[in-house]
Amino acid sequence: MKPYSFVDGSEPGAQGVRDLALRALELRGGAKSERFPDQRLIGVFLNPSLRTRTSLECAVYDLGMHPILLSPGADAWKMEHRPGVVMDGDCPEHLADAIPVLAEYGDVLAVRAFAGLRDAEEDRSDPVLAAFLKYSPIPVINLESALWHPLQGLADAATWVSHLGEDLRGTPITLTWAPHPKALPAAVPNQVALTAALMGANLTIAHPEGFDLDPLILNRCANVATENGGSVRVVHDQREGIRGARVVVAKSWSGFSGYGRRDEEAEHRARLGDWTVTASQMKMSENAGFMHCLPVRRNVVVADEVIDGPNSWTTETAGLRRWTAMALLERMLAARGENPWNA
Ligand code: CP
Repeated sequence: MKPYSFVDGSEPGAQGVRDLALRALELRGGAKSERFPDQRLIGVFLNPSLRTRTSLECAVYDLGMHPILLSPGADAWKMEHRPGVVMDGDCPEHLADAIPVLAEYGDVLAVRAFAGLRDAEEDRSDPVLAAFLKYSPIPVINLESALWHPLQGLADAATWVSHLGEDLRGTPITLTWAPHPKALPAAVPNQVALTAALMGANLTIAHPEGFDLDPLILNRCANVATENGGSVRVVHDQREGIRGARVVVAKSWSGFSGYGRRDEEAEHRARLGDWTVTASQMKMSENAGFMHCLPVRRNVVVADEVIDGPNSWTTETAGLRRWTAMALLERMLAARGENPWNA
């Protein structure tokens, strides 16, 4: 039987994402969930995490399941993902061996593996997540890969529904690039774009020239938005991008056109301090809620006055990570191997 995985967050479809957001809000309000004793989730973290790891562990406990969380290179063998590689480096274990073994012990696998930011085509292939999907006979949940962060997307959707109602068609949402000392992957902005598109929002992406998202992903998001009654536009002026927004999501990311020239990009990024989200920028919006997935560099990405202000939804969204993870696992496990997205 085909394992039904959660890879980019679009699997449940637009109504399914809305339903999961609503279910998460019910669970936050005290609704009882089905329990799944004897079910084990094995999470593999190839990169650090505070929210994803902790909220997942809370959700698993709250569903009566058992979590087993591994950090390869720290408490488990360092893992190689490249097919056909001669393993004479520092990785003693290959995912081709590790994943089927872990599937013998657990009922759901979950993995976090960020983009390398060195090779565009390698990152586009999402190689570690792809290995999990290839070798796992049980469902896989993406905990942030090179391209996507679907559990963050669910929490973002639940936050929007909580504040603005479940019909988000035509809602002006702005995703703005923000400064950062380091080149960061684009999984979160890609996910914001896809989730907003699924919800039929009118998404504006504001970024400086050179900090473009992958055109293949942008094109897909524009098509998904159109199917759901929304739109996607890109502007290179932050204040213009924030004008009229009901939600402002801030995030830094590296440019898709910056592959192979990250040093040049870093010099450019160092001159973009005026993209920090301040109260002055937020005044251009329609009293927008401010969001960031966290962790965030205060007074680099966003000014204290905004993230500590009355319109900051950052802690609420992070709190919803627990309830959205629970809603997702409940849906996946209640299907008992059948397609959970048909329910
Ligand atoms: N937003 C998010 O995924 O946080 P962590 O990296 O701490 O898990």
